[in-house]
Amino acid sequence: MAPEAVPPGVSTDQRPGLDPYDHHRPLDQWDPAATHAQLRSSCPVAHTPAHDGYWVVTSHDLVRRCGRDPEAFSSEHDLDGSRLGKEFGGIAIPPQGHYRSIPSEMDGAAFHQYRRLLLPWFTPAATAPWLPVIRAMVAERLDRHLESGSIDLVLDLANPVPAMVTMVLVGLDAHQWENFAEPLHSLVAAPPHSPTWLAALEGIGHLRATLLDLVIARRRSPTHDVASVIVAAEIDGEPVSDADAVNVLFAVVAGGVDTTTALLANALFWLSEHPDVRRQLIDEPHLRPSAREEFLRVFSPAPATARTATRAVRIGGQDLGRGERLLLSWTAANRDPAVFDEPDRVEVTRDTRPHVAFGFGPHRCIGAPLARATFDAVLDTVLDTIGDYVVDTAGAVRYPRVGAVNGWVSLPARFSVPQR
Ligand code: HEM
Repeated sequence: MAPEAVPPGVSTDQRPGLDPYDHHRPLDQWDPAATHAQLRSSCPVAHTPAHDGYWVVTSHDLVRRCGRDPEAFSSEHDLDGSRLGKEFGGIAIPPQGHYRSIPSEMDGAAFHQYRRLLLPWFTPAATAPWLPVIRAMVAERLDRHLESGSIDLVLDLANPVPAMVTMVLVGLDAHQWENFAEPLHSLVAAPPHSPTWLAALEGIGHLRATLLDLVIARRRSPTHDVASVIVAAEIDGEPVSDADAVNVLFAVVAGGVDTTTALLANALFWLSEHPDVRRQLIDEPHLRPSAREEFLRVFSPAPATARTATRAVRIGGQDLGRGERLLLSWTAANRDPAVFDEPDRVEVTRDTRPHVAFGFGPHRCIGAPLARATFDAVLDTVLDTIGDYVVDTAGAVRYPRVGAVNGWVSLPARFSVPQR
């Protein structure tokens, strides 16, 4: 990329005085939407030296092109470098942990077999019976706070509910949600390689041990949960090993715990700041599904996912070599003015169909129906029970960095105590 095409403040080279693009930079040091807008219009495939170097892809068209072409842009994570090379670092930049997430960090025939195993658990039809369960969880959580007139919308509602649903789905006890949510939140909110991040990685080691116990238990006596299905399966004619079963269950847990939480937090905060739209959603509940999709588009809870080029490939005018890393910015694509008019504006009746908040291509989020059902259950209950809530903006805390998940730490709020 020619130096003159570098937008101010988002340098992609290493000249002194210019900060390179880094999606993990603390939010008080950059404005992701403005930076992505500049990159998208001047250089939609731009290189940065951060984290050993990667290309960031920001236009809707090019992000989708990379997402749907796993032969050129691979999700593979080759932990020891023996299969493809160590540069194949999976779907996170920098590569996360010492494990390979399945099916997220694989391509090819085995990927499709795992995906087929999981799919029956995540279709809209399979998700429907969950609705009453999720609604009961929401009601139980909310009930604890009704008489006080105050609640933390993240800590008391948006954190526990999606995490509890995910626990039950994989085969764990709902009450174990906190053990899983804490290290997963730290892992996405802390600076990579910081002491908090390293401690979170250690915590994740304990979670994986819990999942291994579950795998062993389900081999002995299967029940009706994802763990039981995975341990009974064969991939490429071979039984799934304990380690790979843990890798699958961990991918589901990691996918389910922080993302819907982030969507809820952003939506509830935005609605508190826009009481006119909130009133509209209370009075016209049929608008809630399109509002949910608009919140997904504009807040993109999982902002970006990585890939590795499998061969020399030209994209967006740039020549990439085998092993070069790319970051597909779903959040930048979701604000591409070529696809969405006035992309930074929240418009709850907008046609959001081309949004890519759940990714694009064969790895598109398998949990999307469950995420939507969980979001709907929480939003319906909040709007219909404590619909006049007001977030205490002074006490609201966002994640300090939003490279992995665009989330909130805390959203304290007050509301009128409902008459029973
Ligand atoms: C608002 C909520 C959610 C958002 C925004 C979201 C976002 C995403 C995105 C962008 C991907 C694609 C990653 C890639 O292309 O490499 C993905 C994949 C995935 N998600 Fe979600 N997700 C959400 C909720 C969930 C839930 C509730 C679960 C499960 C309980 C889940 C499980 C997964 C799994 C297992 C994958 C990997 C799929 C594959 O590689 O084939 N997600 N998610």
